[in-house]
Amino acid sequence: MIMKSAIYPGSFDPITYGHLDIIKRSAEIFDELIVAVLDNKAKTPLFSVEERVKILQEATKDIPNVKVDSFSGLLIEYAKKKDIHVSIRGLRAITDFEYELQIAQTNSKLSGGALDTIFLTTSLEYAYLSSSSVKEIASFNGDISQCVPDFVADLLYQKFDLQKKENTDE
Ligand code: PNS
Repeated sequence: MIMKSAIYPGSFDPITYGHLDIIKRSAEIFDELIVAVLDNKAKTPLFSVEERVKILQEATKDIPNVKVDSFSGLLIEYAKKKDIHVSIRGLRAITDFEYELQIAQTNSKLSGGALDTIFLTTSLEYAYLSSSSVKEIASFNGDISQCVPDFVADLLYQKFDLQKKENTDE
């Protein structure tokens, strides 16, 4: 049997319901989906790569054909190592398109056509979501229950030290 595999690369700092929606739908299309966290030394993420991998594992534990991994360097090199030829990206709005098209075309060119990109349009209910806005809302102790799973929200508030603050306020 030929296994059809795909990679869903990203920063996932942290995972949102928008990502989870793309993961669930991709996992139905492909036999195996590897969610790959980019270890980007140039960025200062809120969650370490190890934390992000753990969070993704927890959030996807009920989807058997999803694996979580991390990579550094070029996506095409990682895909080659895994012998995978499809990258999945989510498109929320037209504003994502230019950036995503550039990445997709660069990857196609750099890989000599070996890595294709498939875009899934984000479900409308999640179109407004981004990890950056979720972090900003959480940093002000705002309600992110519509944006991320509960355990992720808890981890975000912990990161911003809000739980401790709440306890001292009581
Ligand atoms: O969640 P993000 O930060 O929008 O994801 C961007 C990501 C990880 C898909 C992209 O930056 C990437 O693949 N980086 C790895 C480096 C690489 O392969 N660059 C060449 C394509 S421009």
